Amino acid sequence: MAEPIIAVRHLSKSFGANVVLRDIDFTVSSGDVTTVIGPSGSGKSTLLRCINLLETPTSGSVIFHDQDVTGRGVDPAAYRSKVGMVFQSFNLFSNMTVLDNCTVGQRKVLKKDAETARKNAIRYLEQVGMAPYINARPRQLSGGQKQRVAIARALAMEPEVLLFDEPTSALDPEMVGEVLSVMRDLARGGMTMIVVTHEMAFARDVSNHVVFMADGVIAEEGLPGELFQDPKNPRTREFLARFREN
Ligand SMILES: Nc1ncnc2c1ncn2[C@@H]1O[C@H](COP(=O)(O)OP(=O)(O)O)[C@@H](O)[C@H]1O
Ligand SMILES: [Mg+2]
Repeated sequence: MAEPIIAVRHLSKSFGANVVLRDIDFTVSSGDVTTVIGPSGSGKSTLLRCINLLETPTSGSVIFHDQDVTGRGVDPAAYRSKVGMVFQSFNLFSNMTVLDNCTVGQRKVLKKDAETARKNAIRYLEQVGMAPYINARPRQLSGGQKQRVAIARALAMEPEVLLFDEPTSALDPEMVGEVLSVMRDLARGGMTMIVVTHEMAFARDVSNHVVFMADGVIAEEGLPGELFQDPKNPRTREFLARFREN
C-alpha cells in the first residue's frame, strides 16, 4: 500500500463567525492525484491554504508524514519546499527573470549554490517547455506561459506534494490545454498532487480520488469513475449537471 503523505484530520476553519470549513478529513498517499471540486465559496481555496500553512486552522490538524505541521516548531518555508503550491494568479515575482523566479527559493530556502540552482531550474523549465524564456520577465509572457513557469518554480524545490488552486481559471481558453498537459505529465510521472479545479475532464481522467465540497464540508468523495457516473449526493448531482449542460 502507498504511504500516506498528508492527512487532514478533523480540520475546521472559521473567519470570525463565518465557519468556512467543518471537520474536513482525508488522506493523500504517495502518487495520489486528488482533485477537489465544488461550487465557488465552498472552501476549496481555504482548505489548500490551510494545508500550505497560509491559513491557521481553527481546529484539527494537517499531518505531513508523522508530523503535525499545524503544531509549534514548524518552519513554514521549509515545509512549503516539500508541499509546494501553484496559484490561479501565478504569483510570479514580476521584477525577476523567469530563471531567477526558479532559483530564488532554491538559494534562500534550500541553500543551493548558484550553479546547482541554475541547472535545476533549467531542467524543470525544459520539462514545462519554457527553457527558451529564461531571460524573459513575467509581463512578457502569456498566461499559459506564466503558469508553466510557476509550475517549474514549484518543481525546482523538488517537493513531495504539489497543491494547485484552479491553475487554469485565469487563462484564456486557448491556453488551458498547455497547462493541463504539463499537469497530466506530472501525474503520469508519479507526482503527488492535490488539485482544486473546474476542469471536470481532468478530474475524471487524471485523478484517482475526487473530493466534492459544498458549504465547507466534504459532501461526497470517491473514485472518479463512481463519483462522475453515479453521484450519490443530490448536491453533487446538481453541481455536475451544470457542467454537462455546457
Ligand atoms: N481571509 C478571509 N477572511 C474572511 N473570509 C474569508 C477569507 N478567505 C476566505 N473567506 C471566506 O471563506 C469562504 C470560502 O472561500 P474560499 O475558500 O475562497 O472558497 P472557494 O475556493 O471554494 O471558492 C467564502 O465565504 C469566503 O468569503
Ligand atoms: Mg477558490
